[in-house]
Amino acid sequence: MTNEQIQQVVEELKALNAKTAKEVEEARVRFLGKKGSITALFEEFREIAPEYKKLYGKALNVLKQEAIAKINELKEIAEADIAAGGPKEDLSLPGEGFELGSRHPVSIVRQEIVDIFRKFGYDVAEGPEIEDDWHVFGALNFPPNHPARDMQDTFFVSAGHENPVLLRTHTSSVQVRAMEKMPLPIRVICPGRVFRNEAISARAHCIFHQVEGLYIDEGVTFADLKQAILLFAREMFGPDTAIRMRPSYFPFTEPSSEVDVSCNICHGKGCNICKGTGWLEILGCGMVDPNVLEANGIDPQKYSGFAFGMGIERIAMLKWQVNDLRHYFENDLRFLHEFDTALEV
Ligand code: DAH
Repeated sequence: MTNEQIQQVVEELKALNAKTAKEVEEARVRFLGKKGSITALFEEFREIAPEYKKLYGKALNVLKQEAIAKINELKEIAEADIAAGGPKEDLSLPGEGFELGSRHPVSIVRQEIVDIFRKFGYDVAEGPEIEDDWHVFGALNFPPNHPARDMQDTFFVSAGHENPVLLRTHTSSVQVRAMEKMPLPIRVICPGRVFRNEAISARAHCIFHQVEGLYIDEGVTFADLKQAILLFAREMFGPDTAIRMRPSYFPFTEPSSEVDVSCNICHGKGCNICKGTGWLEILGCGMVDPNVLEANGIDPQKYSGFAFGMGIERIAMLKWQVNDLRHYFENDLRFLHEFDTALEV
C-alpha cells in the first residue's frame, strides 16, 4: 500500500456527488462494500510491515469515517428530495399524450333540443327506464290488447301479473309521472332512453332515445301545439323551415298528427334524403286524450293539453345525414370524433 493509493480514494470521495437514493447506494457499495475501494485498502493493510501500521491505520480509519459521514449526508439529502416530490425529472422530455373525449352525437342533439324548449319555458324531467305496464301503456289509454304490449315489441322484466314490469318502449311514460307529481299547469320535456324488441338493422335498433313534451293548462288548443312545433323546427333546422301536419293515430292523443319539416338539404326540390318528397318526418304529436287526463286525475272539463314525441337519433340523422342507426351505438372512435367540431357550434 502506498500513500498515493490512499490519497486517490480521498480525492474520489471528495468529488463524490450522488443525487438520488439509488446513486448514493451505488457509491456506498463502490467505497465501503465487500469489493469497495476502502475495504480493499483495509485488506492490504493486513499485509504491511508492523512499523507502518500505526501511520496507515490512522489514515485509513479517518478515511473510512469520512466516507461513512459523507454517504450518510448524501442519503439524507436524497431522502429529503423524495419527500419534497421526488428527484427532479427531466422536464424537457415530451409528455404522454392525453386524449380528450368528445360528446356523443346523441348527447349533442339531446342538449340542443333541451336548450330550445328551455328557452320556451319548459322544465326537464326524467323517469325510470325500467317501468311498469301502467305508466307505459295503461295510463296512456292503450287498449288491453294493443299490439305494443305484445312480446314482439316490449322487453318484459317480469310478466304474468296484473302490472308487468318492463323496459319502457317510449318516454311517454314520463308524461304520466309528470302528471302524477307536478302541479298544474305542466310544461315539461322528458329526454331519455327507450327499448324495443327489434332486430338491429340500419333503420331499427333495440335501444334508442326520445324526447317527450307535454303541456297542460286551461284552454290549450291545437293552434298552440302547431305554434310550439313550428318554433321548435325553426330553431332546430333554420328560420326558413316550414312544417306540415298529417293526421295520424296514437292511443294517448286525439286528434293525433305526424309532423314533417321541409327538407333542409334540397329545400323542397326533392333529393334522396327526403326521397323526392321535399319533406322529412320528425315527430308525432296531438292533443292529450281526455281519457289520459282522467286516468291521471286531471279534470278534462277544465284542462286540456298537447303532447309530442321525437326520436333523437332521427333528428341527428337529418342533421348530419348519418343514415345507419348502428353507428350511434358501436363506439367507433372514427365515427365519434367526426362530431368534435359540433361542440363549438
Ligand atoms: N310515444 C310515441 C312513440 O314512441 C311518440 C309520441 C307521439 C309521443 C305522439 C307523444 C305524442 O307524446 O303525442 O312513437
